[in-house]
Amino acid sequence: MNALQHKIASTLAEEHGAVRATMRAIELELARPRSHPAEVERVRDLMEEIRAFRHCLQRHFRPEQAGDLLSVMGVVDAATIRLAEQILVQHESIEGRLLGILSELGQLGEAGCALTERSKQEIRSLFAQLARHEHLENDLYRRVVEPGPTPES
Ligand SMILES: [Fe+2]
Ligand SMILES: [Fe+2]
Repeated sequence: MNALQHKIASTLAEEHGAVRATMRAIELELARPRSHPAEVERVRDLMEEIRAFRHCLQRHFRPEQAGDLLSVMGVVDAATIRLAEQILVQHESIEGRLLGILSELGQLGEAGCALTERSKQEIRSLFAQLARHEHLENDLYRRVVEPGPTPES
């Protein structure tokens, strides 16, 4: 692996660690019981946290989305490129769900309502999708960086 490839791989690993840590912190917050007035406040806090998380994800997705990332990593085989394309399509679904959650939290916040069980479930379900997505990416980059033996070898 050359210096640029090494830098890309370590930046991705670092960012994936930060994404996991943010999701864990929000999940812990969701699981913490609160009294009613604090529940209303929590909707607003959560909205700020998820909005900040969305901006981090947008910054994280941008280089992944750029077509030249895989070429920098030296990916040439069609199967890996196809897998990478499938993974990249998931960014749109994740972004759409994040916007949906922010809109729901915005409505709850404006109405002075507490977080609903449905919203909590949607956040947890989105985080599960995002964790699977990042896991697939880790597999993909591992495959690129440490290619296994070819059938002929
Ligand atoms: Fe991604
Ligand atoms: Fe990623």
